[in-house]
Amino acid sequence: MKAVSLSRYLIEEQRAKGKIPADLRLLIEVVARACKSISSAISKGALGGVLGNVGTINVQGEAQKKLDVLSNEILLEANEWGGHLAAIASEEMDDPHPIPHRYPKGEYLLVFDPLDGSSNIDVNVAVGTIFSVLRCPEGVTEPEPEHFLQPGVRQVAAGYCIYGPSTILVLTVGDGTVMFTLDRDLGSFVLTQDSVRIPEDTAEFAINASNARHWDAPVKRYVDECLAGKTGVRGKDFNMRWVASMVADVHRILTRGGIFMYPIDAKCRDKGGRLRLMYEANPMALIIEQAGGAAHTGYERILDVQPLGLHQRISVILGSKHEVERVALYHREPQ
Ligand code: F6P
Ligand code: MN
Repeated sequence: MKAVSLSRYLIEEQRAKGKIPADLRLLIEVVARACKSISSAISKGALGGVLGNVGTINVQGEAQKKLDVLSNEILLEANEWGGHLAAIASEEMDDPHPIPHRYPKGEYLLVFDPLDGSSNIDVNVAVGTIFSVLRCPEGVTEPEPEHFLQPGVRQVAAGYCIYGPSTILVLTVGDGTVMFTLDRDLGSFVLTQDSVRIPEDTAEFAINASNARHWDAPVKRYVDECLAGKTGVRGKDFNMRWVASMVADVHRILTRGGIFMYPIDAKCRDKGGRLRLMYEANPMALIIEQAGGAAHTGYERILDVQPLGLHQRISVILGSKHEVERVALYHREPQ
């Protein structure tokens, strides 16, 4: 069978289903191209002089790695001149990046976490880029932060690129979730999995167990029941994994099922959670739902949350549908 490139996939989706207007196609292709550059920079490691910190702290209060800054610059430079965007927001920048006046403006807003899991870079473990595409509200020519504050259901596309043993782009335009693998010889993303489906049941969970003493009762109950294994109420043994790169943990779940949790707990309650709603939770929630999984805060569907701030944090529980529903049920039941 002939290999289907990302461009061909996007064009055929548009022809068959009218899902991807030319500007959105350009946007996705430009993001994919930027991801190839990031992939190349990351793969050079110490030889490229890209490891380590730059000595600055970002808006999230985290030490910036050289590759955080470089990935952010690559994505900005690739996206600002094409005429498809009205503005860009990044986890690494305090405020949205306006499109310079010398370039035409488009109707989309691009939001990204340029390098997710970047604490893993220096130890050579998989990291990734996460992105989300929204429409710029009608009549707005100079988008302000408030124009980005749209619930996740309004995303027109979302995806991530994982830089692991191979570089894989995972994408949804609201018509299922698909995966492309980077053919490094050809320099092109090739479709390697159409309609990804997450098994509804699982026996694998992912959570940072060092936070156990801070967890709320419903999360503690769920994890305790998993740990009790065959002889406990669940009647089966569970396995545990935690990469500490959201892209890598989500990618495993898309590939073989599982549940991922970074719930709100006593340690991060004042911030609203650990992970970011706009840059991490929303795009991943759309990708997961489009693959038949579920994404919840414990109290509501992530995609229904009305964002109140660009850098807002949120509780995240996502993956195999029946497991996510079980955790949500535990949140509804009286303690
Ligand atoms: O971007 C935040 C992040 O690095 C995620 O990729 C990851 O899931 C999480 O933080 C890891 O958190 P912790 O360091 O608490 O394990
Ligand atoms: Mn991140």
